[in-house]
Amino acid sequence: MIIAVDGPAASGKGTIAKALARHYHLPHLDTGLLYRAVAATVRRMELDPEKEADAVAACDFDELTLADPGLRDDDVGQLASVVSAHPLVRAALLQRQKRFAHQEGGAVLDGRDIGTVIAPDALAKLFVRATPTIRAQRRHAELKNRGSTVSYDQVLADIRARDERDSSRSAAPLVPAADAALLDTSFLSIEASIAKAIALVEARRPRG
Ligand code: DC
Repeated sequence: MIIAVDGPAASGKGTIAKALARHYHLPHLDTGLLYRAVAATVRRMELDPEKEADAVAACDFDELTLADPGLRDDDVGQLASVVSAHPLVRAALLQRQKRFAHQEGGAVLDGRDIGTVIAPDALAKLFVRATPTIRAQRRHAELKNRGSTVSYDQVLADIRARDERDSSRSAAPLVPAADAALLDTSFLSIEASIAKAIALVEARRPRG
């Protein structure tokens, strides 16, 4: 059973994907972390993220990078959005994600193109969304909790910039798969979002 969870930054897709993995006892891959690892490696090696060849060189990142808590920072997310627009970067990370999705027993993956590119054959596809202002409020509260002094307006501007870049790129843009179930979390608690996600997956499961 493959479950694909796609959606924009701070929509709640990561939390939902983790909860689905726990509920169905499936392994989970946060594919954004792969692009974040490329971004962090580009920065560490002082490469140019806008240059496709530079970003491709960073796809061979050290596996230990994936455990770096710094990958979650917003500036790494912005840089990940830049490197992920290069088709050759996406190609370099493709097989790893496809293998994870198609492992024996199934998996849950979250990202931008799971239902459209990585696992078009997924049993259940969820497209998680929330309004930009609500996503910015959530992200701002989370960053404040971690001691950051970034302003709400800055967080909102960053979210809008990332949405625009992720949606308008030509290689695997952020769009819902034709057969994805839409889950708007704008006015739902985390618990209610998870319950709804499970109900949507159940609706796609074969009966009997
Ligand atoms: O989900 P995230 O915020 O960690 O993702 C960071 C960036 O990586 C996102 O802005 C675009 C890119 N990304 C992608 O292009 N495809 C994916 N499947 C996951 C992330």
